[in-house]
Amino acid sequence: MARSALRGRLVDFVGDPSHSDSVLRVIDDGLLLIGEGRIVARGEYGKLASALGPDEEVADYTGCLLLPGFIDTHTHFPQLDVIASPADGLLDWLTQHTYPAEARFADPAVCEDAARFFLDELSANGTTSACVLGTVHAQSVEALFTEAQARGMRLVAGKCLMDRNCPPELRDETDAGVYQSVELADRWHGKGRLAYAITPRFAASCTERQLKLAGELARARPELYVQSHLAESEAEVKWVRELFPRARSYLDVYDAAGLLRSRSVYAHCIWLDGADRRRFAQARATAAVCPTSNLFLGSGAFDFRQAMQAGMSIALGTDVGGGESPSMLATMRAAHDVARARGTALSAAQLYYWATRGAAQALGWDDQVGTLESGAEADVVVLDPAATPLLARRTAAAESVESLLFALMVLGDDRVVRETFVAGRPSKPRQRLASSATSAVDSARTRELSRRFMGRLRTAPGGGVLKP
Ligand code: GUN
Ligand code: ZN
Repeated sequence: MARSALRGRLVDFVGDPSHSDSVLRVIDDGLLLIGEGRIVARGEYGKLASALGPDEEVADYTGCLLLPGFIDTHTHFPQLDVIASPADGLLDWLTQHTYPAEARFADPAVCEDAARFFLDELSANGTTSACVLGTVHAQSVEALFTEAQARGMRLVAGKCLMDRNCPPELRDETDAGVYQSVELADRWHGKGRLAYAITPRFAASCTERQLKLAGELARARPELYVQSHLAESEAEVKWVRELFPRARSYLDVYDAAGLLRSRSVYAHCIWLDGADRRRFAQARATAAVCPTSNLFLGSGAFDFRQAMQAGMSIALGTDVGGGESPSMLATMRAAHDVARARGTALSAAQLYYWATRGAAQALGWDDQVGTLESGAEADVVVLDPAATPLLARRTAAAESVESLLFALMVLGDDRVVRETFVAGRPSKPRQRLASSATSAVDSARTRELSRRFMGRLRTAPGGGVLKP
């Protein structure tokens, strides 16, 4: 059996830091032995090194931290093209930027190109698993699953259900959208490390009938995930109240449809009341908190204290492209800042837990990922505390692993991700120059646009050729 070995400081969790102080597990000079995509053994380098065969090489990351790969529990792969597009709140952002960008995904070539670029971004940022929304087009999810499978990634994804309040070119046929979801689930759920999520985009984009059909599917197929948006902005909550006047709350719309259960992941969950939080916790659903998105779109601030007190399952999401970054380090940093602004102090341990083991547990992947335990799948991120001069200076004085983690979260980005292992395979993309981001599809589009532009110049009034 071909094996590899990684040496470095091993850091993972044996429990939830909100329940106990001593759940951070560290081996300062550790070794991970990896075989056939799994962690075969973990321990002190000094003790395990003797188990290595003569031709087994050790990748030496001494000085770096080896953690379970990050898990992003809410992101949109078609939205990298509109990341960093300002708007006057969520609903304006959707109509001005997002829906026009998603309309391009009718073209399978656009889907394939975006899927490759998106998964490269995940790996560049140390994210090894994610819950991903496609567009309304089945081919968007088909392309993403195809690419993820080729890379051996653990991924949850679903096509958006949206049969109203959106541009006609993005509108589902009510029943057909759900049938397409069934077909995609049949093709992909449980294939390799892939899983399907029934994905009503949000209550405002679905008729009551479509939500009901989605809920029936969720009841009939408990192994499938559910993902959506919930109570993100005040204007959206008001709109949902108008669209569903009989519901007690926004959460109640999903609950009444049968879409609130374990394996359901709701992004944002900002504008909930006490009854919603209790019901959410009782249903064992998961809140994917997306703080960079909430700050960027001015949606509001998730109340960590109340959610934790209610016993809600919490994880973190980048919500790209409403979110500002595909980096889970940036997401943890923003979560810390948002909580701090509400008078709640979140420790680095708590935040990294939510980005690793906590997310794995929320998704039902307890022993598979989010941990460096032997037997787990070898999804590992290598973080370099000296990746930038400022980090090197700050972390040289770090007196504990917690303080190292904290500094990496506040000061770090994809530069600190030295390597990302997906099922034991090094996966951080190399030499991604800006030009390589310009895909064949985009270059073709650029050429077409420039042809049209030049054509217009040639037929400009007066017939003259404009000088550059
Ligand atoms: N609500 C409905 N669709 C979206 C989306 O694409 N992004 C965010 N942040 N919220 C949504
Ligand atoms: Zn989202």
